[in-house]
Amino acid sequence: MTALRVGVVGAGKISGAYLGTLRRLSNVDVVAVGDLDEARAEAAAATTPGARALAVADLLAADDVDLVLNLTIPAAHAEIARAAIAAGKHVYGEKPLAVTTVQAGAMLAAAARAGVRLGCAPDTVLGTGVQTARACLDSGDIGTPVAATAFMVTPGHERWHPAPEFYYQPGGGPLFDMGPYYLTALVTLLGPVRRVAGMAATPRAARVIGSGPRAGAEIEVAVATHVTGVLEHANGALSTLVMSFDVWAGQLPHIEVYGTDGSLSVPDPNGFGGAVQIFHAGAEDWTPVPEAGGYRGAARGYGVSDLASALTTGTAHRANGEIAYHVLDVMESLLAAADSGQAVDITSSCDRPPAVPFGGHPDDPTTGRAARSAGFGPGAANGP
Ligand SMILES: NC(=O)c1ccc[n+]([C@@H]2O[C@H](COP(=O)([O-])OP(=O)(O)OC[C@H]3O[C@@H](n4cnc5c(N)ncnc54)[C@H](O)[C@@H]3O)[C@@H](O)[C@H]2O)c1
Repeated sequence: MTALRVGVVGAGKISGAYLGTLRRLSNVDVVAVGDLDEARAEAAAATTPGARALAVADLLAADDVDLVLNLTIPAAHAEIARAAIAAGKHVYGEKPLAVTTVQAGAMLAAAARAGVRLGCAPDTVLGTGVQTARACLDSGDIGTPVAATAFMVTPGHERWHPAPEFYYQPGGGPLFDMGPYYLTALVTLLGPVRRVAGMAATPRAARVIGSGPRAGAEIEVAVATHVTGVLEHANGALSTLVMSFDVWAGQLPHIEVYGTDGSLSVPDPNGFGGAVQIFHAGAEDWTPVPEAGGYRGAARGYGVSDLASALTTGTAHRANGEIAYHVLDVMESLLAAADSGQAVDITSSCDRPPAVPFGGHPDDPTTGRAARSAGFGPGAANGP
């Protein structure tokens, strides 16, 4: 099988994680890297055997690029994706799909017209954490799901990211930045959302950069930094959400799902693995659930590989534009609900992607079939 040739646009903080994974996956090949900052593109290409640094326009036009991996900041996601689609390339992008559903809808339509695939992070839901929880739910282990909680609380990314402005501009904030992990997990577990209500606040008008050459500089906050909401899934389950950049410490679970016959504790959806626990109705305590679904040892980039496999088999890829659009719609509607004080009906929907069977990835020699018999493969490694 020929590997899908990938051109990476955006060689910032997260690019190293992708390049590290893609290097070991046999069905994808990084051939070029581009960035507005040419030195970054050069540095990233230098760490990637077989890849060259290109100006972004040249990368988008390159004949040997089949898929553009869009790792730019959220404000540039739509522009780069549209240009790549116009050049006939498949696109896989970091989350959120775009800053608005208007932009994202145009991306989906353009991809459909051009006959190219549109994929989007997060691919963490393909790992053993969320997929094991999904296997429990699909087997009826906690009965009928009734409700869920999803909590992500932190003081804010400006403490560790050297260029954190985008986290405080439209497309950022705790909801748009971290919400995609939690909402994509909730949609994977419980299906699409039909209605949302919420409230949001911006307690601080400015933040201070905590690391890198601009440490100490103030940046403006243009988004809600504490968002809380309720999602009504199409199956009737109610999810309660808190996404915050305003909490110094908390002891909240990441995700829990409550059913008629028990409860399920789901690990951090910003990682690929982690422990799933179940509480059966009437039991004394929680019980650990052995891994029962998902790619063992998965890492950022598995969604690109899944898209590459789906292209060769003519099947749907899992980390797809429709789910990312629905998640963006839910996030946008939650903020609209917070603004208006009224619940908002969600007009978009999506299918739950096919479950990932438990095991090593067939195209990852460190966790794939050959490696398993040789005894390789981390158990439930988290992503960065
Ligand atoms: N940093 C993380 O830990 C992390 C984790 C998961 C996902 N993400 C997501 O990855 C994306 C990138 O985040 P990051 O932390 O790597 O940001 P970053 O600011 O470190 O890097 C972004 C890079 O994109 C380049 N860029 C911006 N606009 C561009 C354009 N129009 N054309 C070409 N290049 C352009 C910038 O020059 C920069 O090098 C975001 O969507 C973010 O939500 C980041």
